[in-house]
Amino acid sequence: MSLATFGRTARIFTPTRITHRSFGIKTTLRAQELITKLAKRDQRSSHPTPPPSSDDLITTMPHELRIPMQPHPIRAETLTQQWSTTDLELLDIGLTKHRHPENLADKIAYWAVKSARKPTDIFFRNKYLHRSVMLEVVAAVPGMVGALIRHIKSLQGMRHDGGWIGHLLHEAENERMHLMTWMEVGKPVLWERALIATVQTGFFAVFSLLYMVSPRTAHRVVGYLEEEAVTSYTHFINEIDAGWIENVPAPEIAIAYWNLRTDARLRDVVLAVRADEALHRDTNHHFSDRIRAKRESLFDDLDKNGDQPPIRY
Ligand SMILES: [Fe+2]
Ligand SMILES: [Fe+2]
Repeated sequence: MSLATFGRTARIFTPTRITHRSFGIKTTLRAQELITKLAKRDQRSSHPTPPPSSDDLITTMPHELRIPMQPHPIRAETLTQQWSTTDLELLDIGLTKHRHPENLADKIAYWAVKSARKPTDIFFRNKYLHRSVMLEVVAAVPGMVGALIRHIKSLQGMRHDGGWIGHLLHEAENERMHLMTWMEVGKPVLWERALIATVQTGFFAVFSLLYMVSPRTAHRVVGYLEEEAVTSYTHFINEIDAGWIENVPAPEIAIAYWNLRTDARLRDVVLAVRADEALHRDTNHHFSDRIRAKRESLFDDLDKNGDQPPIRY
């Protein structure tokens, strides 16, 4: 009997029963001896095990963790072909696409994004790399917040989500890869990092609240944010073309992630990132439209197009 088991048993009988006259004083003493003995045995057997060495961590790694979970690019074309500069330039991303605000919520969303841009312009001016870091730190939030809230709603409502969660998570991961890429190219100084982190914290709180209150407006905000991202990256490309920003070799992470040529340059990376932002712009405006049309499930339309998904969850 372990001390814990004995303790549980003892709690049933003590203090009244074990010292009851029918048991007598000898019984009480024997019980105390047993407690002391078991405590010593437990002490001996519960010596903390030494922390595993780094070799142990490798040998005990579960099989599933040995399968790399690398981030996948968001554009399907990236998976099937290696991008050259010409490929990236010829990609039709709808460079000047703009969703005209149709109702009050859309107008507020548009106004909020345009207003947020002004201090960013004043603060970063033409420091496009730093501006990109700021943009990506913020832009990686909505997908994760949207996925989390839809996940919780799916659980609470005990119903399927309609195929959004995976796309939203993928968007968040894609934005994080943008950030990781820019951090390889240039690093903001400490006070810039502090400012960016503060802005992101505030945005996270406000956006989470907005998504809980009105996911339709939240996706519209992201749609407009992505329109601004496309514009910012176009200015970034113009600065490189004008020679104001050095067209340095693309970092390794970007070559691997976007399947770029090994001699790719910074300009190719900006083109690839801008193409991703254009896709986020289109998907988020579309998500907002679907909520407005009360036809959220993507699977309904996939069925109509004959693209029957294997799993409809
Ligand atoms: Fe991005
Ligand atoms: Fe984006």
